[in-house]
This record gives sequence, structure tokens and C-alpha cells, in this order.
Amino acid sequence: MIVRGSVTVPGDKSLTHRLLLLAGLAPGRSRLRGALTSLDARATAAVLRALGVAVSPLRPGREVQIVGRRRFRQPGATLNCGNSGTTARLGLGVLAGHPFSSRVTGDASLRRRPMRRVTEPLSRMGARFEPADADRLPLLVRGGVLGPLTWELPVSSAQIKGCLFFAGLAAGRPVSLREPSGRSRDHTERLFRSFGYSVVEDARGWLHFEPTGALVPFDLEVPGDPSSAAFLVGAALLAEAGTLRIQAVGVNPTRTGFLRVLERMGARIMVEPRGERSGEPIGDLMVEPGPLGATEVAAEEIPGLIDEIPLLAVLASRAEGITRFREVGELRVKESDRLGLLASNLRAVGANAAVEGEALVVEGGTRPPAGRVRTDADHRIAMAFAVLGTVRGARVRVDNMACAAVSFPGFAEVLRGIGDGRRGAAR
Ligand code: S3P
Repeated sequence: MIVRGSVTVPGDKSLTHRLLLLAGLAPGRSRLRGALTSLDARATAAVLRALGVAVSPLRPGREVQIVGRRRFRQPGATLNCGNSGTTARLGLGVLAGHPFSSRVTGDASLRRRPMRRVTEPLSRMGARFEPADADRLPLLVRGGVLGPLTWELPVSSAQIKGCLFFAGLAAGRPVSLREPSGRSRDHTERLFRSFGYSVVEDARGWLHFEPTGALVPFDLEVPGDPSSAAFLVGAALLAEAGTLRIQAVGVNPTRTGFLRVLERMGARIMVEPRGERSGEPIGDLMVEPGPLGATEVAAEEIPGLIDEIPLLAVLASRAEGITRFREVGELRVKESDRLGLLASNLRAVGANAAVEGEALVVEGGTRPPAGRVRTDADHRIAMAFAVLGTVRGARVRVDNMACAAVSFPGFAEVLRGIGDGRRGAAR
């Protein structure tokens, strides 16, 4: 494929969830431009509507209007978070700070994902969950008057961090926490600071949040999602010639670990700074194809590129040498068992890959990939292997491309659009 042109990607998923929740809690009318309109974002909007917040329909290219309220209303039915872990975990935090009971559930994938990592600290603050010791949805959450919290996270996770800070916000209580290794995305911290709340990091790596500010309605534009851009970056790197520009992508350093790894692999990617959106740095990414070499991805790097490992793993299967992703056990509890699926699907298309303890090991090769890919409806597995399917001579069949709509509506068309039309994306 020859890549060409200039494209934009949908709005940032993490920021869209957080901005919708904040707008929901800010009394008055807020406006969001460039918000993600994918299935995950719609799940958060639907939960907010059930809690008494008016949210206009999420449609591509349309501003979203949210009429928030200081306190949510008790929902009349179970809150369904669909496939979205962020909706569920941040949502549980907000609900814990409200004096009513609500039932929370999700789709089959979300009902398999661990929730004790958030219910345990929320219980410590005073929230109650039924069943009391459950690690899975569905859960009944009984919120109310919470106390302050000091908590060490078992894993570096922006969803746990976001959950606990949102609980502190809803309950008006201070929350201090520390992540074990590597810094996860810091969107919640940045947004809270922009509302005048105090979020400070001390010398020992503890983050202290004090609910000192006030939520007021806002009018903001969401940057392009670097996690969505990563798939187009990958396709451009694997192309035979050309240049691709991806415009106005969020380049927050806690999200761009994949760019640093790709640079080590020899990728030619230039970031042209384009200022700020919603308190986040943005830039255009200029990508040129070229040969890649293997690398080692260290444990501390993982939180900063957690969602890009599927894409990096398929690129590693085209790089010279053996690439090792260390300490990636957390991938087992994403939208699918991403660790197992990455290794088995890479082997299914003819590459050498293995799970060794908590590490993923991928050997690069030059034979055109061919075979069937099982996604378990995981959007990032589908998109990563669709990118691999753009290699000349590839015959990659992905069992479910529709699931890309969880985070990147229109992905297959965009992927086809950046090429010269001689090869399609995965069929
Ligand atoms: C997210 C955090 C990450 C990431 C997910 C979005 C967020 O999850 O995988 O896609 O918006 O906070 P973890 O915090 O569980 O690693």
C-alpha cells in the first residue's frame, strides 16, 4: 500500500468519558465539540441520562450539549455500561458519592472484568456493594456519605485513579493515592486542576486530591484519540511508500509511550505541535514507512502504552529481531484476554509469538501474514490485525470488524482511505 493524505481521528475516548461525567455534575449547560461518538461514549451518555442528566444525541461532527445537575437522580432501572470499563469504574466512583442505590451491569465482556480493584477502596470510603465480596458486575452500589481515603493501587490504572478521584469529587472528600510502577494517563488530574481543585504530587509519588474547587459548565473541544491514531500510524509504517499526516491528535506524554517505543524501533514519525485542547497538548503526526527493528518494552513503560500493545505487537511481527513486552499480565483483563489472543492470533497468521510468564515475546518475519483472526469482539485486537492485513500479499481474515465501533466508528473506511486503493483493509 502507498499511504497518502491527511486525516483526523475520532475524539479521545478517555477524555470524552471524563468530560461527559464532569458536565453531568456541573449545574447548567455544557458543550463538547469533537467528542467521541462511539459505542463506549454512548454508554456513558446513556448512564448519565438514566441519572437525570440531559445529554443530546452523540453524532459524528455534532456538538454534544449536556445539562448537568449538582446531584444525580436515583435511576429507575439497571445502568448498563455496555463494553465500557471506564463507564463502569468511573461510574461506580460517582455513584458511591450519591445517597441512593443503583444496579450496574455491562455486556458479557465487561461482566468478566475485575471490579474489586474499585469496590474495595470505595467500601473503605463507606460505600456498600451487593454481593459484598463480588469481583464482577452486576453489582448493586449503595452510596452515601463517604469518608476520605488514602490508598495504594494494586496496579497502575487510570480507571482506578479516576474512579477514586470522582468518588472524592462527588462526596466532597479528599483522596490520596499512589500507583505502584509507571504513571497511568493523567487526564483526571489535569481536568480536576482546570476546575480549580487541588491535585498535587508529593516527593514520594503520592497524589493528593482536595475537593476545593467548583464545577461550572464549560465549552471544550476534545483532541483526537492517540490510541485510535496509533492504528493509522501502524498502517503507514507498514506501507511501501508515501507519507501520512494525522491531524490534531492528543500528545499528552502519559499517552504517547507508543511513539517512544516506535522511535526506538526505527520508525520515522514527526510530531508537529499544534497547541492545546481541553488542557491537553495536541499535535499533527507525520508518518513515513520504513523498516523496523525489535525492542524491549520495560515494565514501567506499560501503563503509558497499555492500549497500544496490540498494535505494537503486530508491528513487532514485522520488525527484525525479537521484541519483548515485559509485565503485561494486565492485558488478560482487558476487553478480552488480550495477552492470550495476541499470541494465538499472531501464530494463526504465521508469526512466532509466545506468552512467557507475564511477558509477550514476538519474533519478526517477512513472510506475508495469512490466516484467520479471532477477536472475541475486542475492538483493539480487530483493528491491530486489520492493520497487519494491509501488508502486501497478506491474507488476514478478522472474524469481527464491527466491534471497532466501540472506540473508532468508521475505522475500516478510514484505513482504506489512507491507502492507494490497491489493497483493502481486513475483509
Ligand atoms: C482508561 C484506562 C485504561 C485503558 C482504557 C481507558 C481510562 O484502563 O486501558 O482503555 O480512560 O482511564 P486501566 O486504567 O484499567 O489500565
